Amino acid sequence: MIAVDGTSGSGKSSTSRRVADALGLAYLDTGSMYRAETWWMLSHGVDTSSEAAVAEKASLSRIEVGTDPLTPWILLDGDDVSEPIRTDEVNAHVSLVARVPAVRTRMVQMQREAIIGAPRGIVVEGRDIGSVVWPAADLKLYLTADPAARAARRTLEEGSADVAATEASLAARDAIDSTRATAPLVQADGAVTIDSTFLTLDAVVAQVLDLVAGLRR
Ligand code: DC
Repeated sequence: MIAVDGTSGSGKSSTSRRVADALGLAYLDTGSMYRAETWWMLSHGVDTSSEAAVAEKASLSRIEVGTDPLTPWILLDGDDVSEPIRTDEVNAHVSLVARVPAVRTRMVQMQREAIIGAPRGIVVEGRDIGSVVWPAADLKLYLTADPAARAARRTLEEGSADVAATEASLAARDAIDSTRATAPLVQADGAVTIDSTFLTLDAVVAQVLDLVAGLRR
């Protein structure tokens, strides 16, 4: 079980998927689950700035998520929400929803079930995987990069032209994710930090595969 935590846009998803594929492991994107929950709240008119309003509705969505690293998918109440969960609207609200303990308790339970249900092993990416979801992970990674590098990558991925707006949006999410009371983004005990500011994706993947090889020796 490999836990990959880190800041937004640090390359967690690309790295995790490549590593899982190379090792024949399953893959779970826990951020997509918080995003789907946020899309549910927005679609049902819930005021995401109110923790009480979010908590009251926290058990009503039905989220199913795929664990194949080559073809990730996510269903919300049976509908594919892969696209809406990547919109600016969700970007702007997801940290507010993800800070609510009632939401997190439910997501963590679903994530642990997915881990237990992956007997060949799994790469799980998020913010609290090594610290809360699965502290007994065989390998814990903490991925980060300079804010400007992260914003540049996200801007490319999203096909947008506004790097400054993307950097501001990432910074706003990181600020809430790192300072919330429940399961903030932290470097888990025993996590290996990889700063990808000056590394290509191939180089980061190679470092992770080296670490895994070291575990197996
Ligand atoms: O990794 P991402 O950008 O898709 O995550 C979206 C949001 O969900 C981000 O603001 C932090 C939150 N999140 C979280 O609180 N805990 C996780 N395990 C994964 C994501």
